[in-house]
Amino acid sequence: MEQQKATNLTWHDGEVTRADRFNRLGQKGVTLWFTGLSGSGKSTVAVAVEKALHKLGKLSYRLDGDNIRLGINQNLGFSAEDRTENIRRIGEISKLYCDTGIITLSSFISPYREDRDQVRRIHEQGGHNFIEVHVDCSLACAEDRDPKGLYKKARAGEIKNFTGIDDPYEAPANPEIHLHTDEMTLEEEVDIVLNYLQEQRYLILYK
Ligand code: ADX
Repeated sequence: MEQQKATNLTWHDGEVTRADRFNRLGQKGVTLWFTGLSGSGKSTVAVAVEKALHKLGKLSYRLDGDNIRLGINQNLGFSAEDRTENIRRIGEISKLYCDTGIITLSSFISPYREDRDQVRRIHEQGGHNFIEVHVDCSLACAEDRDPKGLYKKARAGEIKNFTGIDDPYEAPANPEIHLHTDEMTLEEEVDIVLNYLQEQRYLILYK
């Protein structure tokens, strides 16, 4: 974990509370953390969930691996150290979004269990809601889909440290939601996520 460098810092509370913000939006802030192999369907599911939530009048926002790596994380590559820092930053950003009351859809391979657990810890320590969603499909299936042609390049040795090929993916042991994208339809997957949010009372007034 990164060390705290600056000293003499004091947290400054405002007068509008988290509950005030949640009630203003008529929903509870929560981070839905989509993890899985490249090509497993993380972004596809997040896009469809975002659309369904919008239809229900709920505010959500997607944070996506490729998009974030083109911006705030443009100085990070795919070494274990850089992936850990990628996930740490996104974890912190997700926590802030979550605190605003937004339903935050974070899609990152996030291959290391410890990095994801750390994101969960920083959420839970601050009383923020965190849901891990394993977007699961076999490597063979992801490689067969190969939407960006990256598996082909990795197999040809043109990309090093590619998750699933010459870099590990550590599957979640106990995700709140487990989607099998090689067996389910996109509609079924969206239903599972929305039903979970409804059942856990994220889509209603806070009080
Ligand atoms: S993570 O491992 O740090 O969580 P992240 O989700 O941000 O990865 O980015 C993954 C995306 O980067 C993939 O969808 C793919 O488009 C691209 N990519 C480029 N090189 C690699 C690599 N070596 N391993 C995995 N993904 C890669």
